[in-house]
Amino acid sequence: MGRLRDKVILITGAAGGIGSAIAEAVVRNGGLAVATDLAGSAGVDHPLDVTSEEDWLRVIGAIGATAGRLDGLVNSAGIAPLGTVEETDYALWRKVMAVNLDGTFLGCKHGLSLLKRSGGSIVNISSVSGIVGGHNLAAYNASKGGVRLLTKSVALHGARQSPPVRCNSVHPTFIEGPMSDALFKIVPKPAETKARMERQIPLHRFGKPAEVAEMCVYLLSDESAFVTGAEFVIDGGLTAQ
Ligand SMILES: NC(=O)c1ccc[n+]([C@@H]2O[C@H](COP(=O)([O-])OP(=O)(O)OC[C@H]3O[C@@H](n4cnc5c(N)ncnc54)[C@H](O)[C@@H]3O)[C@@H](O)[C@H]2O)c1
Repeated sequence: MGRLRDKVILITGAAGGIGSAIAEAVVRNGGLAVATDLAGSAGVDHPLDVTSEEDWLRVIGAIGATAGRLDGLVNSAGIAPLGTVEETDYALWRKVMAVNLDGTFLGCKHGLSLLKRSGGSIVNISSVSGIVGGHNLAAYNASKGGVRLLTKSVALHGARQSPPVRCNSVHPTFIEGPMSDALFKIVPKPAETKARMERQIPLHRFGKPAEVAEMCVYLLSDESAFVTGAEFVIDGGLTAQ
């Protein structure tokens, strides 16, 4: 119940499948979730387009003025369009980079101004696609690989702060929810595609948003006080093969 007691935790992409599960888990564990997503999204405390530096400054300023502290940040906002390097036009490449990588950079950069006051933990949601490639994931692979190594630089900088700010990356494979559902809307045989994807996973199923959220609770809590700069794969054994 109290693993995150009284911790103030900002979550981006909090209207999404994984982001909303993280916000719920934060509250269930006694924390205060500050839920953010694009303007007009359901159930958010602050509109925050992660690609907008102005939005970050406004939201961090508001949290500083009200709570006076920030103990955790989860960068969960993301988009995952398919496309090989030849199919991906430059505008789409730039958009994926802007949301997935620039958005995470801006979150780490501006979140740190508050996080380092009392120490804290940043969790960057990357993907198994930040570790292994896919022929039709050119922009997504590049953006999530960038998040993976940005995380390590932030962790090393955060370790020099007093009190320290930790930073780790989480790498899920296919997780049930809107992002996976969107993929099945554009493939010709969704049921067969899903069955094939499940067969590739040693535990033979997609993950659940709540399972990713539980990993984030550990990383946000003081239980992980000696953990920073690390990669947490949550993939049913996919990348063990
Ligand atoms: N679902 C999966 O299978 C899966 C697997 C591996 C990694 N991930 C990663 O997990 C994270 C969360 O994914 P999800 O499953 O919740 O996806 P989702 O599509 O359900 O939610 C993503 C959320 O990000 C928000 N968003 C998009 N652009 C934004 C922007 N510019 N500013 C702020 N918010 C923005 C959307 O409005 C949405 O609510 C993403 O970074 C994704 O790449 C997901």
